[in-house]
Amino acid sequence: MSALTGKSVLLIIGGGIAAYKALELIRLLRGRGLAVKAIMTKAAHEFVTPLSVASLTGAKVHDHLFSLTDEIEMGHIELSRSADLLVVVPATADLMAKMAHGHADDLASTALLATDKPVLLAPAMNVRMWLNPATRRNADQLKRDGVLFIGPNDGEMACGEFGPGRMAEPIEIAAAIEKALTPQAKPLAGRKVMITAGPTREPIDPVRYISNHSSGKQGYALAEAAVVLGAQTMLISGPVDLPIPPGVGMIPVETAEEMLKACENELPCDIAIFCAAVADWRVARVATEKIKKAEGRAPSLAMVENPDILRTIATRTDKRPKLVVGFAAETEKVVEHAREKLAKKGCDVIIANDVSPESGVFGGDRNKVHVVSAQGVEIWPEMTKQEVARRLMDKLSELLPK
Ligand code: CTP
Repeated sequence: MSALTGKSVLLIIGGGIAAYKALELIRLLRGRGLAVKAIMTKAAHEFVTPLSVASLTGAKVHDHLFSLTDEIEMGHIELSRSADLLVVVPATADLMAKMAHGHADDLASTALLATDKPVLLAPAMNVRMWLNPATRRNADQLKRDGVLFIGPNDGEMACGEFGPGRMAEPIEIAAAIEKALTPQAKPLAGRKVMITAGPTREPIDPVRYISNHSSGKQGYALAEAAVVLGAQTMLISGPVDLPIPPGVGMIPVETAEEMLKACENELPCDIAIFCAAVADWRVARVATEKIKKAEGRAPSLAMVENPDILRTIATRTDKRPKLVVGFAAETEKVVEHAREKLAKKGCDVIIANDVSPESGVFGGDRNKVHVVSAQGVEIWPEMTKQEVARRLMDKLSELLPK
């Protein structure tokens, strides 16, 4: 008996050429012991017949929002909640737009709005439609709302164009459904994780500051991954232009001193990850008024060193987090410098990354890291910052003393 036996999926078939793949998907899901009920949009009827869908699911197809017989048998709200997962195949640009904006003008969109269950989308559309800023916005919004995605893949499309927009294959969608329905291990349940992220901003006067190009992407991805593993997660972040990941507690800060204070306030915690690009110096005396330009005379700013937040927390004698993790931004001799930093800062793990301009790491979406600890050095291949975050949180949850 598989873990899926007894579970059920509500399959919403959208109106696109890829709708024919829904039939193969139903066959795969039923083969894995899943019960499948289906809703077809009006446009879906142009691509597959309700008879094929009903034959393969072994159940009636739902397609009308206001159907008296359906309401007597099972209301549309109940339909959207009786399943363990809602899957949209193909998720057309129009269905995604409706979902992103909360429309409910047919049975499919109403079920998607009324459900309290996870939703998985398998988008399929023309490459230009997928890349259109409106679809990009809608997809980003849906991801922020916690909607799961599988695909689209790159490839040749029915319209003859090539690029992203081709629906994932039924076998890939079935695997994503299986993953979504399998309870995830929560090794960090009951644990608290604090993560610093982004740049700090050190004022010069009321209108000027010193900062850096840190995007905060790696720190935010770590916070998201920590929540998935069940941790109570606090993000202490300098100014960045990123949405707060769902389920994460957020403490916005500007300066290094504010960041240190916020970190101290969050103690005790189990894991502390210092991902922020903290400004090493700040201006000794911040001008209370805007510094006026004086012809031919540039002001000279006396600087003082900022507190080292990582070292301050890692070397505490009381309330030291059980696992302290630092990042090292290096442009050469990555492992050698990371080892030195591990000792100098008193932390347990250093994640060293190559931030030389040609690596594209700063501000980019990918990262290549070395994990340096007393246990040795692991050299990880280049991957997305999300993937680095997932693997890193898995690793830290293993390293965390019980
Ligand atoms: N860090 C910190 N507080 C600071 C400076 C750095 O918490 N005032 C943390 C960073 O968040 C990061 C690590 O320390 O985890 C980076 O150490 P740092 O000494 O700044 O090294 P690099 O940025 O790698 O630069 P450099 O090699 O020039 O020291």
